[in-house]
Amino acid sequence: MNTASTWSQRFESALHPAIARFNASIHFDMELIEYDLTGSQAHAQMLAHTGIITPDEGAQLVAGLEQIRQEYRQGEFQPGIDAEDVHFAVERRLTELVGSVGKKLHTARSRNDQVGTDTRLYLREQITQIRHQLRAFQGILLTLAEQHVETLIPGYTHLQRAQPVSLAHHLLAYLQMAQRDWERLGEIYQRVNVSPLGCGALAGTTFPIDRHYTAQLLGFGGVYANSLDGVSDRDFAIEFLGAASLIMVHLSRLSEEVILWASQEFGFVTLTDSCATGSSIMPQKKNPDVPELVRGKTGRVLGHLQALLVLMKGLPLAYNKDLQEDKEAIFDAVKTVQSCLEAMTILLREGLVFRTERLAEAVAEDFSNATDVADYLAAKGVPFREAYNLVGKVVRTCLVAGKLLKDLSLEEWQALHPDFAADIYQAIEPRQVVAARNSYGGTGFAQVRQALQAARSQLSID
Ligand code: ARG
Repeated sequence: MNTASTWSQRFESALHPAIARFNASIHFDMELIEYDLTGSQAHAQMLAHTGIITPDEGAQLVAGLEQIRQEYRQGEFQPGIDAEDVHFAVERRLTELVGSVGKKLHTARSRNDQVGTDTRLYLREQITQIRHQLRAFQGILLTLAEQHVETLIPGYTHLQRAQPVSLAHHLLAYLQMAQRDWERLGEIYQRVNVSPLGCGALAGTTFPIDRHYTAQLLGFGGVYANSLDGVSDRDFAIEFLGAASLIMVHLSRLSEEVILWASQEFGFVTLTDSCATGSSIMPQKKNPDVPELVRGKTGRVLGHLQALLVLMKGLPLAYNKDLQEDKEAIFDAVKTVQSCLEAMTILLREGLVFRTERLAEAVAEDFSNATDVADYLAAKGVPFREAYNLVGKVVRTCLVAGKLLKDLSLEEWQALHPDFAADIYQAIEPRQVVAARNSYGGTGFAQVRQALQAARSQLSID
């Protein structure tokens, strides 16, 4: 459409072909076509409803737009780069289909409020899908957690063995992160769901439009109160990219753990064949490609957030062509989050198996019960700091002797402190170490069972 006739008669000649390509967004904004058609149908209905065009004209526009939808779905509507963007492509096809009444569609509207409307309709749907995917991801975390309440896994701080925890507790931590992601997207949805349609190019319109009517037809929760803000606001997209970034950060953290767990050094999980690949040269290898890719793809989503923030920071009111650059960032973030959530859900469902025997060995062969020895003495009235120092000494002695705490004889314990009795062995047994952390939100089995119950009802709310 980049002929001289695209624009008003102000223009005498066409764009330079390279500039036409440079200017175009059709090669990526066709992603918006269904939303563009829906938004235009609402606009046409409103024009008829308010008497700006006749009911018959309104009906012709709506029907023509519906026909373009069918053509698109059948793969027959494939506008080229000459159409510049999806909005022009639709308007041009509409006029071919319904004749000159098609040229009335753009009455009282600008591509500026139009593209904002399309982007919001698109994001609304994608957010809903991502929230469903988060629920599925939480579902598999819950299923695994239910199977592994009694499975112990070393808990780490600084990636050093710290205290053993229930594997269910570990998995439920990710379920909580996903819960915040789900809630956060629900809150953001409210701000995405505001209509800029009718803000015009920047200042509103001279026609007696009804913005609330189009908003209602399109299911928006409200309308922008200021036309300048309405056409140039991208806060909703930045908020979405922020939420998308956090989802990716959470998936990436889990990915990193799975990668470590699958290593020979940890050996906590085995990867099944459905989610792992081999090496083209080393026949013994089985690689955790899925979590590696998720960890890797996190960078691009974080980058898109940064890109949009930088895009916005110097923009004067109102619409500026810079805003065309928001789309690829948004689309790519949406696709990346959706594909990563799907892949991680499959990975958890069938891609890995916990090696419970290795986990049991892991928690029995270290000093991650040392805090419990200090707690044991502290519970008998020894000031905690004193007990802590004493146990530090015990650990050092054990390390020198090549022993674990459980290997000390009762005489040895009592030589260290008279308050030690035979029940010290039970207190430092891994299962007891975990069970004893029964404070609210802790890893004690009773707490974990309550947390599972809470998660179960949380997930079945909606
Ligand atoms: N393709 C444009 C975009 O994505 C549509 C709006 C163009 N508006 C304008 N005044 N040139 O932002």
